Amino acid sequence: MKEPVRVAVTGAAGQIGYSLLFRLASGEVFGEDTPVELNLVELPAAAKVAEGTAMELEDCAFKTLKKINICDTPEKGFDGVNWALLVGSKPRGPGMERNDLIRDNGHIFVGQGKALVRAASNVNVVVVGNPCNTNALIAQHNARDIPPTRFTAMTMLDENRAKFQLAKKAGVDVRELHNLAIWGNHSSTMVPDFENAFIGSRKVTEAIKDRAWLEGEFFTTVQKRGAAIIEARGKSSAASAASACIDQIKNLLKKTPADQWFSMAVASDGNAYDVPPGLIFSFPVRSLGDGKGYEVVKGVQLSEFVRKKIALTTKELLEEREVVKNMLMK
Ligand code: NAD
Ligand code: LMR
Repeated sequence: MKEPVRVAVTGAAGQIGYSLLFRLASGEVFGEDTPVELNLVELPAAAKVAEGTAMELEDCAFKTLKKINICDTPEKGFDGVNWALLVGSKPRGPGMERNDLIRDNGHIFVGQGKALVRAASNVNVVVVGNPCNTNALIAQHNARDIPPTRFTAMTMLDENRAKFQLAKKAGVDVRELHNLAIWGNHSSTMVPDFENAFIGSRKVTEAIKDRAWLEGEFFTTVQKRGAAIIEARGKSSAASAASACIDQIKNLLKKTPADQWFSMAVASDGNAYDVPPGLIFSFPVRSLGDGKGYEVVKGVQLSEFVRKKIALTTKELLEEREVVKNMLMK
């Protein structure tokens, strides 16, 4: 057996936690020969529910699950972890935008950023709690001793949604879809870039000739999918969000082929696509396969249509940054 992988999941007693933890424990992500230690990080009021989840994890008898700790502070929760999956935060309700949550959720990521510095210097951070780009920005600013590249926010759910919609329209298997970049914010301004995506070896725009559908219904379906799910379920997406988080970690653990990419929100270096430095922005990225290294794919050709949409989502992220400026360490 290898060295154990230590994973903290905040919001472990919540909806997403309930799907995510079992898949992390099962061996599916880190491999059948890698022991997993899970830190279930919760508010003290939800610790009892987390205990129930821990009992169920034990009852699965996963061969790879070596240890479960219930942690009621981020310092305990992040102690020596390799991965910190920051899920715990309030979800939006019907009629809200994700950035309506900034004032309720932003402060959580101030404390967690500081706790990460104290407890876990060699960590990969995936922010799921909304608004995830700006929450990742807050956590990263409050954890200045940890390289900024270690902070990511999740747009894999949006990529998965976009791929499925395109596969359905084209009448192909979803595995045929690749290079579907989500640009910008995990919000209703996100840009699902169908123009650079492929179905097998054909461009999506060659396989799907209905440009009005691509620019219209496809775009808004992906941008507003989260709200549609809240409308239908009365609760926000959970199993699909957990599944996307698993996909993001798997993508970071394997080298991305040189002609492919996946979507992840990372700190902009200011040198590409007119995105100001520092913003946590979803780009097409390629993983180096070591769990932490990746590069933003440069030189992707953007049409005027996509450029204009990217400008809008950039503007929104700048506005969000302005709202939280007091939470960002100078
Ligand atoms: P939930 O309400 O079911 O669970 C949230 C849990 O977080 C609760 O158990 C709560 O006690 C816990 N929590 C709150 N503050 C905490 C803190 N400071 N430390 C530790 N735990 C804390 O919510 P959910 O459905 O699991 O969603 C969680 C978040 O994920 C929401 O913000 C939601 O909007 C977001 N989300 C993001 C995506 C994405 O694609 N990025 C997708 C789905 C949901
Ligand atoms: C989603 O995309 O499903 C999540 O971000 C939840 C939400 O508020 O839409």
